[in-house]
Amino acid sequence: MTSGERPERPARGPVVGRPVPQELLTPANGEGSAASPPSFHEMWRDLSSVGRYKDSGGYRRYAWSGADTDCRAWFRAQAEARGLAYELDRNGNQWAWLGVTSAEDIALGNAVVTGSHLDSVPDGGAFDGPLGVVSAFAALDRLRERGAHFTVPLGIVNFQDEEGARFGLACVGSRLSSGGLTQKQAHALRDGDGVTLPQAMERAGHDPDAIGPDPERLSRIGAFVELHIEQGRALAARADADARSVGVASAIWPHGRWRFDFEGEANHAGTTRIEDRRDPMLTYAGTVLAAREEARLSGALATFGKVAVEPNGVNAIPSLVRGWLDSRAADEDTLATVVAAIEKAAGERGKLDGVQVRVTRESRTPVVEFAHDLRDRIARQLGGAPLLPTGAGHDAGILSASLPTAMLYVRNPTGVSHSPAEFAQEDDCVAGIAALADVLEGLACR
Ligand code: GLV
Ligand code: MN
Ligand code: MN
Repeated sequence: MTSGERPERPARGPVVGRPVPQELLTPANGEGSAASPPSFHEMWRDLSSVGRYKDSGGYRRYAWSGADTDCRAWFRAQAEARGLAYELDRNGNQWAWLGVTSAEDIALGNAVVTGSHLDSVPDGGAFDGPLGVVSAFAALDRLRERGAHFTVPLGIVNFQDEEGARFGLACVGSRLSSGGLTQKQAHALRDGDGVTLPQAMERAGHDPDAIGPDPERLSRIGAFVELHIEQGRALAARADADARSVGVASAIWPHGRWRFDFEGEANHAGTTRIEDRRDPMLTYAGTVLAAREEARLSGALATFGKVAVEPNGVNAIPSLVRGWLDSRAADEDTLATVVAAIEKAAGERGKLDGVQVRVTRESRTPVVEFAHDLRDRIARQLGGAPLLPTGAGHDAGILSASLPTAMLYVRNPTGVSHSPAEFAQEDDCVAGIAALADVLEGLACR
């Protein structure tokens, strides 16, 4: 399907409990599925042009956009090419299920799920998200080729709106399903053009009144494993003798997003005396420098990566500058201290400039410590794969509050991510698929 065609409808109502949902029962271990589903190369090639912005070479796959619809059509086609039972849930997350033979074989709550997301940041790379989804299908294909016998259902998921590039909040699909975001909060989200999330959903053919917690669906799952490109150089920096293509996540730093509104006074750039100005751009600039310094002093991270200026004219002093702070730290106290210090610096600078500063916390994600038994078991199974903490947020982190989750990282030679330059070597991607297949086999097969 392309973005112009008719949208699909989500599965409604409770879908778990007795009787066992059909998608978990059929087809039996994939019997009757296509003999040769699209290969890793074919999947990667087919996705590579979707939502690509030719000027930068990066991707603009924003939630509920045409590019997103095309990615989602791709996911559905992959599920169907493999004879998997396809589901769209109330929050726009897509699922592809490989069932087991009989209701008696299913202990509900034991399904093993893998996958990631297909949306991107502005001008994002090809790997952040898609590598986890493509690898999920490729790992399943490997397991089938080697005749693996699945004793629990296997699911592949594409979580909706992981990056939060359009509506400002990351992991919307997994937050809604796990109850960390309410329907009311989600309905209040707006993009940069003033389009609300419900409006965008409706335009994409999804019912915004259907969104909300989905405990029944999550209660099917015994473990979720997300494969992701590493967003750093911990694997790449290892010495040759210790070289590794794949690592295992240990923890995710606490992080959040704060909106800073700097309100001054619009005036003429050519006639307003310096001493008469109330220029919010100065306060913004001072705050950006303070953020960098506070983060440096505490070993934390603080970034103003998005800014909006009103009225945004070359020859006008702005009336308003709005900047979004993304801050992350290894522990909760450090994060709180750094953000408080940045707010204080903004207020002090605002007084000097005659500018009012208002700070709104838009999201806050607590520290995630991945389930030790699962992550340690996986690391052992992969021959002592290194355990790596990260500052990047993931759906696996959001879901870790509801069920055991784990992550595999694939080596990134430059560490660059959220950029068109994001890259992983093909050999490392193939090693990631092999590792994911082994992990899934250990969890879902006899
Ligand atoms: C998601 O990639 C995030 O960490 O912002
Ligand atoms: Mn990302
Ligand atoms: Mn990601």
